[in-house]
Amino acid sequence: TDYATIIVETRGRVGWITINRPEALNALNTQVCAEIVDAATRFDADEGIGAIVLTGSERAFAAGADIKEMEAKSGLDMLMGDHFGGWTTFAAVRTPVIAAVAGYALGGGCELAMMCDLIIAADTAKFGQPEINLGVMPGMGGSQRLIRAVGYYKAADLILTGRTMDAAEAERAGLVSRVVPAADLLDEVGKVADTIASKSLPSLYAAKAALDAAMETPLAEGLRFERHVFASLFDTADQKEGMAAFREKRPPEFTNR
Ligand code: HXC
Repeated sequence: TDYATIIVETRGRVGWITINRPEALNALNTQVCAEIVDAATRFDADEGIGAIVLTGSERAFAAGADIKEMEAKSGLDMLMGDHFGGWTTFAAVRTPVIAAVAGYALGGGCELAMMCDLIIAADTAKFGQPEINLGVMPGMGGSQRLIRAVGYYKAADLILTGRTMDAAEAERAGLVSRVVPAADLLDEVGKVADTIASKSLPSLYAAKAALDAAMETPLAEGLRFERHVFASLFDTADQKEGMAAFREKRPPEFTNR
């Protein structure tokens, strides 16, 4: 498939999506959204893929939704155009997704990173929700996901002042899974992605579904969901293989069945 704003590659069992709009610091216009969603959906449907990496450039993961594309729109345009509806599809892929963030992850860029399961940041990363500086507010999940990631008071600080935070602060706040030196970002993310992709796919899908459920269900309901998906994995060959491999003191050979 030919894409104009992203670069897509498969390395082993990992699908890589690199946002490539250097002239706009990877600002997320309608085309970028459609292309990322298309590429992620294709990887998600491919049993040869066990993890997806989403990354940008050294300067910017993404500096936000495309301000120039949005500027002239009315509220009705935004609503009827369902401008960001595709992101719901992206956030719902079953395959684990790692955001590899260097440079700016602002506004929609920060919100896009938060649609991923792990956020691995270069020490150059800068996160923020600066929409308030434009007379608007977060619109791709920032007001909801950031609170769940960092708590009310840090989220309110970022969203109401529009300031950015560096990678160290983002890690302390719980927004970032790991911080690595910028020069090592893609290598380190590649290792993490290979590790995840080496697991049994049914167990990855089930674990991601349970993590997602935890973000939106009361504890008792989440625990019931967990008990059922956990039990369902005992009908996979990979559960028998994983536990036999442990007993026989050898690495497991998963078949994704
Ligand atoms: C469109 C953008 C852009 C954006 C940068 N560019 N961010 N274009 N939308 N979000 C463009 C610039 O216009 C410029 O193009 C080129 O990228 C390089 O950017 P500079 O500003 O020259 O770079 P620099 O001086 O290094 O500053 C970097 C920056 C700044 C601090 C990241 O670009 C910036 O503040 N960007 C906007 C960040 C932002 O407000 N994001 C939130 C967007 S709203 P030209 O052609 O002029 O040289 C949002 C809403 C989400 O995300 C919710 C959806 C509903």
